[in-house]
Amino acid sequence: MNLATFLNSKKYDNEIKEILIAIQIGSIDLYNKLNQQESDLFGSLGQKNIQNEDVQKLDLIANDIFINNFKKTDCIHSVLSEEEKEVRILNNSGSHLIAMDPLDGSSNIDVNIPVGSIFSVLMNNEEGFLQKGSSQRLACYVIYGTAAMLVFAIDNEAYGFSLNIKTSQYILTHPNIQTPKTGSIFSINEGNLNSLTKSVVNYVKFCKELNSNGKRTHTGRFIGSLVADFHRNMLKGGIFIYSKTNDKPEGQLRLIYECNPIAFIAKATNSLSSNLKEEILDVKPEHIHQRTPFVVGSSEMVQKILSLQISERT
Ligand code: F6P
Ligand code: MN
Repeated sequence: MNLATFLNSKKYDNEIKEILIAIQIGSIDLYNKLNQQESDLFGSLGQKNIQNEDVQKLDLIANDIFINNFKKTDCIHSVLSEEEKEVRILNNSGSHLIAMDPLDGSSNIDVNIPVGSIFSVLMNNEEGFLQKGSSQRLACYVIYGTAAMLVFAIDNEAYGFSLNIKTSQYILTHPNIQTPKTGSIFSINEGNLNSLTKSVVNYVKFCKELNSNGKRTHTGRFIGSLVADFHRNMLKGGIFIYSKTNDKPEGQLRLIYECNPIAFIAKATNSLSSNLKEEILDVKPEHIHQRTPFVVGSSEMVQKILSLQISERT
């Protein structure tokens, strides 16, 4: 079943359907650009974004592609993008807000490693983008990997669609995604190990323990594209950790357009997520580009790292 037929079979609001179709069209356009291998599309622009990160040409191309598709619907009041300092208003009478990371993991583009796009959809209200993640109506990401996949969560259910490049259609391949309660994968940038809190270091040590037969109990996997690391762990079972470091005392990942939508999808698959103090979806954002420590994954693995936090504090 393709995405359009799937949406027609559901009682979602028309606005939600329109937004998903806009993401579908934008993501296929972007996927084609990522695969063109036209050398002038790749590489850095030699500029920094407001987060002091190197801006890749494709970061801005991705941003424009999605903004232009969102402009074609009437229902989007404004867009908050990782690539833009201020919120961009599209339609004063629009009912919804979209926060997005148009090209996640973009430092991986030049080395042919999966990247993604992430979207958080909220109702437009007086809080604007500073709503808790639990208020999201829809969260979605697209992974541009060996295949492109569009994954979204709504009404506490998560679905995955894979792109058929011959027909340019997303086909439902993963109905009702459920993450295993536990898994063997831990995903963390170990370059940060010496600046992590003791309890996070202890969790990593726990993952490296051998079983009674002298065999490893876990396997380490870290791609460096949040979408790709999360996607693998969501399907196979595992935990992703990006907690605070000396370099990044607030954490590395952005709350509103990276962690919230991923946490919302995780919840629909029965996973847990946390900033190591409270559930990510319960955090009230204070500013639009706010960063946060982030742990997400199989429920038993997240509970284990949280239990080490508690013992550290007591
Ligand atoms: O968008 C931020 C991001 O690129 C994520 O996709 C990824 O998980 C993280 O940063 C990687 O950060 P680092 O290079 O510090 O491991
Ligand atoms: Mn990102």
